[in-house]
Amino acid sequence: MKGLYHWIRFCLQFGYAGFHKTIENACSQRQNKKQKCASVSKGVANVFLVLVFASLAIGVLSGPTYNVTGYGAKGDGRTDDTQAFMAAWNAACTDSKAGTSVLVPAGKTFLLSAVSFKGPCKSSIHVQIDGTILAPNKTWILNKVHWINFMFIKGLTIAGSGVIDGQGAIWWHCIAQKQCATAPMAFNIGNCMHVQLSGLSFKNSPMMHVTVHDTVGANLTKLRISAPADSPNTDGVHIERSQEVQITHSTIGTGDDCISIGSGTYNLNVSWIDCGPGHGISIGSLGRNGSIAQVEQIHVSSCNFYQTTNGARIKTWQGGRGYAKGISFKNLTMFSARRPIIIDQYYCEHRNNCANKTSAVQVSNVQFDGVAGSSADNEAIVLRCSESTACTGITLANVNITSADPARPATAFCLNAHGKTRGTVIPAVPCLDGR
Ligand SMILES: *[C@@H]1O[C@H](CO)[C@@H](O)[C@H](O)[C@H]1NC(C)=O
Ligand SMILES: *[C@@H]1O[C@H](CO)[C@@H](O)[C@H](O)[C@H]1NC(C)=O
Ligand SMILES: *[C@@H]1O[C@H](CO)[C@@H](O)[C@H](O)[C@H]1NC(C)=O
Ligand SMILES: *[C@@H]1O[C@H](CO)[C@@H](O)[C@H](O)[C@H]1NC(C)=O
Ligand SMILES: *[C@@H]1O[C@H](CO)[C@@H](O)[C@H](O)[C@H]1NC(C)=O
Ligand SMILES: *[C@@H]1O[C@H](CO)[C@@H](O)[C@H](O)[C@H]1NC(C)=O
Ligand SMILES: *[C@@H]1O[C@H](CO)[C@@H](O)[C@H](O)[C@H]1NC(C)=O
Repeated sequence: MKGLYHWIRFCLQFGYAGFHKTIENACSQRQNKKQKCASVSKGVANVFLVLVFASLAIGVLSGPTYNVTGYGAKGDGRTDDTQAFMAAWNAACTDSKAGTSVLVPAGKTFLLSAVSFKGPCKSSIHVQIDGTILAPNKTWILNKVHWINFMFIKGLTIAGSGVIDGQGAIWWHCIAQKQCATAPMAFNIGNCMHVQLSGLSFKNSPMMHVTVHDTVGANLTKLRISAPADSPNTDGVHIERSQEVQITHSTIGTGDDCISIGSGTYNLNVSWIDCGPGHGISIGSLGRNGSIAQVEQIHVSSCNFYQTTNGARIKTWQGGRGYAKGISFKNLTMFSARRPIIIDQYYCEHRNNCANKTSAVQVSNVQFDGVAGSSADNEAIVLRCSESTACTGITLANVNITSADPARPATAFCLNAHGKTRGTVIPAVPCLDGR
């Protein structure tokens, strides 16, 4: 791969025409074979052209590259490199050439304070992160809710084998001691269009690890996200007010939801996720504090859940409004998940006895199809819908969940849930009325 990359770069220096000419000149020295040579050179040059387009398409080939070390970043893990990163970003963002990139090189550790990389930029930008980025090992005054923040960028690729280490332990401790009310979220993409985030590892964020909000078109793939099971509110990925998003081929294990999906999210696909430890893949929480939720076309498929507290979950607060509809959970495997399938419309964080209200987010057209494996708790299926606003169009199909404790067989619970079952459904859900 690296060889190919260098070869393409070498070729680019000559340019298509020059490259063509070079081969032809070399050939023409062997007069008698000129004719054949010309066509060979054309063929080689065409292959070259194809390679150039292919590599441009996959973003390997770069235009101008702004290496943060060229702007004074030390990468010694102790010096604050925030200003150098800002300078490299500003240079890249104001460069109008195609294929502009910012490079955070491998083999170094960069200490960054809270920082925003803002557009709009003159062209789309590739941020290659191969080194480690470290948060300060101290708490700070939260005038920004994010540690690393990308905003207002159209065409943003963030890729590499780097590690984003939020050093959250100090914040978790501070929260447990009630000395901090909240903590920063590690890595945010806000108000962007056409975003690709791939390859990176995120660990020990003070709060949520990766957040995407108010963004249209985002592909998140091949991410590894980890934090201890008891770290507070450390969701792996949170999506809010965003459309055309896919999250695939990632491994997420944290102290909260592996993936959580907030209001204003439409057309989101999640697949090939290994989740655990954590609280599962959740739509919500929605409708907090009487707010209006709108969530539609969310498709979760081919995921594994390892010792998670929930598997496929929809959670809404009492008193909310709006809807969550057109949702599917397919081909999920549970390895001792406590509540593999759960709709909970009485969500109440920190168990502070939230009062019941007369309105709720309406949950409809939700399919659970192909859910297998084991449940750590015997109540494997929970459809606890609002008493004021029923859940409708709930389908359970091809479900087979066995209790991890043979003495307590798996059961299902319903409250105001309407819908039907299809195929084999174990445990049986007689409380669904077939409507
Ligand atoms: C971070 O700071 C805490 C408390 O000051 C200390 O216990 C811990 O070892 C530090 N971690 C690192 C990686 O330096
Ligand atoms: C996201 O992936 C889809 C196909 O999987 C592709 O069509 C789309 O262009 C990608 N978007 C970005 C921003 O990379
Ligand atoms: C989600 O998957 C559906 C069905 O496979 C597909 O039609 C749609 O384009 C996908 N959307 C995104 C944003 O990946
Ligand atoms: C809920 O609303 C009340 C009153 O408007 C406000 O004081 C409180 O901060 C809100 N809580 C949350 C979590 O938004
Ligand atoms: C179901 O998901 C598993 C991974 O959990 C995968 O190996 C399998 O191919 C998926 N099946 C289908 C039909 O997508
Ligand atoms: C709210 O209603 C649910 C369902 O009827 C019930 O289980 C719960 O105890 C009620 N909560 C309160 C605080 O009254
Ligand atoms: C359900 O799963 C159990 C354990 O995985 C298996 O033994 C059983 O044959 C399955 N039942 C059906 C109907 O697929």
